[in-house]
Amino acid sequence: MAHKHWKLDTDRDNIAWLTFDKAEASTNTLSGAVVAEFSAVLDELRASNPRALVIRSGKSSGFIAGADVEEFTTIASTDDALAIVRRGWDVMNKLAALPFPTLALVNGFCMGGGLELALACRYRIAVDQPGTRFALPEVMLGILPGWGGVMRLPRVVGPTAALDMMMTGRSVDARRAKLMGLADASVPPRVMDNSARIMALEAPPQKKLPVLQSLMNLPLLRPLVASMARKQLAARVQREHYPAPYAILELWQKYDGDPFAPPAGDPASVATLVEGNTARNLIRIFFLQERMKSLGKESGFEARHVHVIGAGVMGGDVAAWCAMRGLTVTLQDQNAGALAPAMKRAHALFKRRLRDQRLIRDAADRLIPDIAGDGARRADVIIEAIFENLEVKRELFAKLEAVAKPGAILATNTSSLKLADIGANFANPSRLVGIHFFNPVAQMQLVEIVSGANTDGETARMAAAFVRQIDKLPLHVKDSPGFLVNRVLGPYLNQALRMVDDGMAPETLDAAMTRFGMPMGPIELADTVGLDICMHAGKALAGGGGEPPKKLADLVAAGNLGKKSGRGFYAWQNGKPQKGAAAAVTQELIERLIAPYLKEAQAVVAEGIVTDADLADAGLIFGTGFAPFLGGPLNYLASDSVRP
Ligand code: NAI
Repeated sequence: MAHKHWKLDTDRDNIAWLTFDKAEASTNTLSGAVVAEFSAVLDELRASNPRALVIRSGKSSGFIAGADVEEFTTIASTDDALAIVRRGWDVMNKLAALPFPTLALVNGFCMGGGLELALACRYRIAVDQPGTRFALPEVMLGILPGWGGVMRLPRVVGPTAALDMMMTGRSVDARRAKLMGLADASVPPRVMDNSARIMALEAPPQKKLPVLQSLMNLPLLRPLVASMARKQLAARVQREHYPAPYAILELWQKYDGDPFAPPAGDPASVATLVEGNTARNLIRIFFLQERMKSLGKESGFEARHVHVIGAGVMGGDVAAWCAMRGLTVTLQDQNAGALAPAMKRAHALFKRRLRDQRLIRDAADRLIPDIAGDGARRADVIIEAIFENLEVKRELFAKLEAVAKPGAILATNTSSLKLADIGANFANPSRLVGIHFFNPVAQMQLVEIVSGANTDGETARMAAAFVRQIDKLPLHVKDSPGFLVNRVLGPYLNQALRMVDDGMAPETLDAAMTRFGMPMGPIELADTVGLDICMHAGKALAGGGGEPPKKLADLVAAGNLGKKSGRGFYAWQNGKPQKGAAAAVTQELIERLIAPYLKEAQAVVAEGIVTDADLADAGLIFGTGFAPFLGGPLNYLASDSVRP
């Protein structure tokens, strides 16, 4: 029978090759229609009883990205959600029950429901290529792997690794998958079909777990394993904020991963998760992220060469990031001494992120020191990241505009200067755009694309496409002091710093905001950003007027700039603040601390600094870490979600 999304061929060895190629889609996702068809194909296969079954992807983009998250938005009731769980759970069990060898041939991403499908096969072969990743990221959407993942992954890789993957959503590559036993083999692309054929024909005995891991899977030991994992989890996330990782742990411990086993009202049940606000808000963030990604598709611009001027904290790291993402980068500064630390940090980044020697070397080759600044003539994107000094920036841009290629993007990373001022002497000021990265560049996903009064719309769209090209999230903002992120953070930090002046312990203020759901409290954040930068940003936002918070000014005057100098509001050791005990946190304190943040977020939307409230939420979640489970500050204000 012909199918829409699945193609079935049988070769001369009587191996059935089932190719998943979702119709009218660039990515394979397991929608309702796809799963129904898959179920029908499995019935056919059961009847025809081939020698073996190999499941593979017909898409070059990857194997299977998971369930179709779009369908989650149509969920109107708990029963709707349970129906989605039911259909996936049933079909994976049907696959697992086939009487002949089954094998998933995984090239590219294999996420969520995709991995659950692969786990329901007897064997898994991972194609060793850069895009191959295995993960069960359901926890990031506030839900759990209900299509058999919680049951099967611990049996295949052991509870330790399985719980870690499921409770964090972390992904593993092909080699790691082989090492941990998730994949039976990791093979280069050119031999993948042959490897699958041989394994399907030979049907080797399935691998056994190491003794310790299989012991940990025994019902008697599960409570002990779970209580250890729960302790570690509690140090990282609060159950009231993020119930899903706790539910995953309990679903494994008490119900062996069967999502239909927990009684109604049990915290490990899917119903409890989908009825809470966290899942709804996290799914909302997933779509906001997709929306930011789509901002990069409004122009077909593609950069090959980036020229960065200023190899300091920001420029150096921006250059390294771009080189790591495959672009040729020339990095300019005044002398070799200024370039050296940036090159060193770049190498450390490549080593940490790329791991493979050849990839590290290639990235290092793409990053070219360029004191003379010759790269500016050839670059598709020029990013200025020199000192925050208007005159020097103007002088520099006068030279750059003269030598740059006609279609090249001319961008500044300025945090506090007006684009109109920097571009005042441009022959064509519409070419200047802000591409505002955040520190630390490697960790911060958000990049603000700043349009001044003169900036050409197409230039801003090209800048957004470039930001997507280097795998960051672009957000268009208007040229106004602090743009979005610093504008909202400014009053929030300012208030917290003044409360320190009034005698509050930094520890208590930080504890209040982490209790609220921020990843880090305001005082630790100030120390991390750098107190000199906070001073400067505060002055810029206040327009020069007003006294800075006293303790802040004193620390800066004494050269205690926070994390980077080893001392600020806290003493820092090995990258960690040394904190004393916090006093009791009251609801009143929480509300007082967050109030300026929420007020400013509303003002930014009212003034049209960002397109709409949804994008403001997105920017503030990805740019300031605003409690994701609350779905963003404006969503929080608009919703009746329980106040923490
Ligand atoms: P930095 O002081 O660490 O680095 C500036 C670098 O520019 C120095 O290496 C300096 O030698 C070089 N430089 C100065 N004049 C130059 C010239 N005419 N030609 C070539 N190189 C020159 O500064 P940082 O912190 O990296 O800031 C750079 C820009 O990025 C500023 O506009 C700042 O507002 C912005 N920014 C800074 C952030 C931060 O957290 N530090 C965050 C986001 C933006």
